Amino acid sequence: MMILSHCYCFCGIITIYFSLLIHTLASPTLHFCRHDQRDALLEFRDEFPIDEFNPSPWNKSSDCCFWKGVTCDDKSGQVISLDLYTSLNTSLKTNSSLFRLQYLSHLNLSNCFLQGEIPSSLGNLSRLTFVDLSWNKLVGEIPSSIGNLNNLRNLSLGYNDLVGEIPSSLGNLSRLLSLELSNNHLVGEVPASIGNLKELRVMSLDLNSLSGKIPISFANLTKLSYLNLAYNNFTSTLPFYMSGFYNLRYFDVGSNSFHGPFPKSLFSIPLLRTVILKENQFTGPIEFVNTSSSSKLWALNLNSNKFDGPIPESISKFLNLALLHLSYNNFTGPIPKSLSKLVNLDFLRLSNNKLEGEVPSWIWRLTGVTLSHNSFSSLENSSQETLIKGLDLSSNSFRGPFPPWICKLKWLRLLDLSNNLFNGSIPPCLRNLTVSLTELTLRNNNFNGTLPDIFANATKLQLLDVSGNQLEGNFPKSLINCIALQFVNVESNKIKDKFPSWLGSLPSLNVLIFRSNKFYGPLYHANMSIGFQSLRVIDISHNDFTGSLPPHYFSNWRDMITLTEGNGEYMASLPAYSLIYQSMEIVNKGVEMNFERIRQDFRAIDFSGNKIYGKIPQSISVLKELRLLNLSGNAFTSDIPRFLANLTNLEALDLSRNKFSGQIPQDLGKLSFLSYMNFSHNLLQGPVPRGTQFQRQKCSSFLDNPKLYGLEDICGETLVPDHTSQQPEEYSEEEEKMFNWVAAAIAYGPGVFCGLVIGYIFTSHYHEWFAENFGRQKKVRVTKKAR
Ligand SMILES: *[C@@H]1O[C@H](CO)[C@@H](O)[C@H](O)[C@H]1NC(C)=O
Ligand SMILES: *[C@@H]1O[C@H](CO)[C@@H](O)[C@H](O)[C@H]1NC(C)=O
Ligand SMILES: *[C@@H]1O[C@H](CO)[C@@H](O)[C@H](O)[C@H]1NC(C)=O
Ligand SMILES: *[C@@H]1O[C@H](CO)[C@@H](O)[C@H](O)[C@H]1NC(C)=O
Ligand SMILES: *[C@@H]1O[C@H](CO)[C@@H](O)[C@H](O)[C@H]1NC(C)=O
Ligand SMILES: *[C@@H]1O[C@H](CO)[C@@H](O)[C@H](O)[C@H]1NC(C)=O
Ligand SMILES: *[C@@H]1O[C@H](CO)[C@@H](O)[C@H](O)[C@H]1NC(C)=O
Ligand SMILES: *[C@@H]1O[C@H](CO)[C@@H](O)[C@H](O)[C@H]1NC(C)=O
Ligand SMILES: *[C@@H]1O[C@H](CO)[C@@H](O)[C@H](O)[C@H]1NC(C)=O
Ligand SMILES: *[C@@H]1O[C@H](CO)[C@@H](O)[C@H](O)[C@H]1NC(C)=O
Ligand SMILES: *[C@@H]1O[C@H](CO)[C@@H](O)[C@H](O)[C@H]1NC(C)=O
Ligand SMILES: *[C@@H]1O[C@H](CO)[C@@H](O)[C@H](O)[C@H]1NC(C)=O
Repeated sequence: MMILSHCYCFCGIITIYFSLLIHTLASPTLHFCRHDQRDALLEFRDEFPIDEFNPSPWNKSSDCCFWKGVTCDDKSGQVISLDLYTSLNTSLKTNSSLFRLQYLSHLNLSNCFLQGEIPSSLGNLSRLTFVDLSWNKLVGEIPSSIGNLNNLRNLSLGYNDLVGEIPSSLGNLSRLLSLELSNNHLVGEVPASIGNLKELRVMSLDLNSLSGKIPISFANLTKLSYLNLAYNNFTSTLPFYMSGFYNLRYFDVGSNSFHGPFPKSLFSIPLLRTVILKENQFTGPIEFVNTSSSSKLWALNLNSNKFDGPIPESISKFLNLALLHLSYNNFTGPIPKSLSKLVNLDFLRLSNNKLEGEVPSWIWRLTGVTLSHNSFSSLENSSQETLIKGLDLSSNSFRGPFPPWICKLKWLRLLDLSNNLFNGSIPPCLRNLTVSLTELTLRNNNFNGTLPDIFANATKLQLLDVSGNQLEGNFPKSLINCIALQFVNVESNKIKDKFPSWLGSLPSLNVLIFRSNKFYGPLYHANMSIGFQSLRVIDISHNDFTGSLPPHYFSNWRDMITLTEGNGEYMASLPAYSLIYQSMEIVNKGVEMNFERIRQDFRAIDFSGNKIYGKIPQSISVLKELRLLNLSGNAFTSDIPRFLANLTNLEALDLSRNKFSGQIPQDLGKLSFLSYMNFSHNLLQGPVPRGTQFQRQKCSSFLDNPKLYGLEDICGETLVPDHTSQQPEEYSEEEEKMFNWVAAAIAYGPGVFCGLVIGYIFTSHYHEWFAENFGRQKKVRVTKKAR
């Protein structure tokens, strides 16, 4: 007896389960274990490391039909099902006793740490209807003998390391309902014979390296309801006959190189719920003409193609549409009026197109809206309260005062207005939002006045970025309550305040950017505990800080002393800007810079351009993870301390434009990662140390130290340092590159994160699928999942 259960709903991964229910229906007394079968099972067990069949070991003196994972035929006592969930942790031998279980119909060794190749003798178990070897560590090719299993209904070999081509013999499995080969390393074209599998409902070939085109024989797969070809190297146009897939519910060809026009025939399929065409090369306009009037379309993702023209009014036919992602195309014109008829619409992503005009107010009833990188110029006023949680209006042409009605969107978690032309003050009514807000990004506008002190209840706030405005006055003291705060950037404003030492008590504060403001006074207050245990990047450059730093100043900066354990968790704990550290190209002052370098382990201190004096605190030598140290343009005195050589991960060191005297410590030459140093404009003397580390530097890194000598190798024979031609306040292009990357990368960060839509709670599968297909980020790296 078979039970077929479909799950089309939210999980995105559709599974068909077949269960033989004999053991639950039959009376136990009818069982009797056949000795040949029992012995085969025991020998099978002995092929694997001891004790792996716990907690209930197979016991020779009990009926093998009652052993865990074993099911026998009611009448004959033959073993017909084996369903283990254990760590076999070795390979299946070609002569394994498993293959003596000739009556086996159901074999489930999913998630068993199986290694090695799939033995071709599997093809001898001719009664098999169900084979699941997924989520193992199987290697080698798929044996063509599997094509002999002509009773097979379900074949699942996904999430292994299988290589080679899909054997064309699989086309003999004429009863197959489900073929699941996801997440392997399969190559080549899909064999035309697969088109013979006329009963097929589910085909998952995603996450391989399959190429070429979809075989024309697929036209016969009229019962297909789930087709997933995503994350492969398919290159063709989509076949013309797709409307023939009239049972299709889920269609995903994302992340390939498919080209050609919009596959409009697809949309006449009445049961179709999900269509994902993202990250391909489709071109031209989109239209929905022959769509079924009762369309069930629920999710449509056309992200990152080359579609153009307007978003057609006809899209309003899809009354069940909840998720619409049209970002990274060339769509033009306004948001179509008819879109407002889609009462079930929940997430709308239109970023990186050429859309323009007014953003209509019905948009605010959705849950998540991304309109960034378009040319929208105005926002229709909203009067009603709405449930919107994520609103990204960045990089458009909005102007005028902060829209006061935004203060009424009290469920907002994420608000990004950056890179627009908003002006006037940031209204105190924003206080009404801060209870739920996790991210507030107002970067690069013309906001003026003070940053209002509205954060008393902002206990969920993780990211605050108001950089690049005209803000003045005090730094808001209520931020002390923001215990979740990870990222603060107020760069390039006119904020005039003392250093808020109390920020040191925030347990998660990772990034602090005060660059280019009017902060003043000492960095250190004797009566404050120093804290900053989670700080990874601090840039307080170009302010008016002064005073000296006591020897113990850095001793609590735990996250620069040792890296937090576990990279995965580390990523997860940095939702707000972790993606900055992944590959990212930005344009900075005309120089294209690759921020691949800015990694998870990046740690930086930039105190440059202030008036800090005295010695470099000895406690800095414990910051073993520090990558970049910039103390230039201050008034530090004394020698360059030898303990800087204890910063073994240092990559860039700038001590220029201070009053350092004495010699350059030879030990710095031992810092094998140190590729940039600058000692210029000090009072250093004696020889420039030998060693490749020093000799590789630019001449300008040593200039204007009147008593420094031995520069001939670095600066060339003719060197007569001509101080008059130097312009001490100008950075060279090299220096600019080296030291702007911190600030620039961080400044660009918040706009690009974050795939995971912080704070939205979803079930695990849906969450992953959603993040991958409808999250804010352009691309979520799809990785092999571990057990
Ligand atoms: C095996 O089963 C017999 C009888 O059911 C029992 O007496 C014996 O203790 C069991 N042995 C193990 C190792 O569990
Ligand atoms: C196969 O085994 C895996 C792992 O134990 C389990 O999650 C899955 O539900 C099983 N499949 C069937 C159809 O019983
Ligand atoms: C599996 O085998 C590897 C060595 O091949 C071993 O390191 C690992 O601990 C084993 N795992 C289990 C669960 O037995
Ligand atoms: C499987 O069948 C092949 C012939 O098809 C035979 O050579 C081989 O011995 C069989 N293997 C087992 C384990 O029965
Ligand atoms: C399988 O063959 C190997 C040699 O290839 C042999 O050592 C082993 O005993 C055989 N196992 C069985 C169950 O026949
Ligand atoms: C579809 O199946 C029919 C037989 O049922 C066959 O004649 C035809 O060639 C197949 N079409 C394709 C495209 O394979
Ligand atoms: C598949 O495409 C990716 C990206 O275009 C490329 O890096 C990879 O080498 C290709 N793989 C094969 C097997 O062609
Ligand atoms: C958009 O169109 C412009 C030309 O108008 C073209 O250069 C650009 O590549 C297109 N972008 C996409 C994503 O198609
Ligand atoms: C802010 O909240 C207060 C109290 O809930 C309310 O009286 C006020 O009208 C709200 N302001 C705005 C602009 O929504
Ligand atoms: C802020 O800017 C607006 C116009 O942009 C101006 O009218 C106002 O006077 C400015 N306020 C302050 C405090 O500078
Ligand atoms: C902060 O929350 C408290 C209670 O949760 C409330 O009484 C107070 O009005 C809130 N303050 C602000 C500024 O919203
Ligand atoms: C620097 O490291 C050396 C040896 O690794 C150690 O002896 C010395 O005390 C350290 N200096 C400081 C200031 O931490």
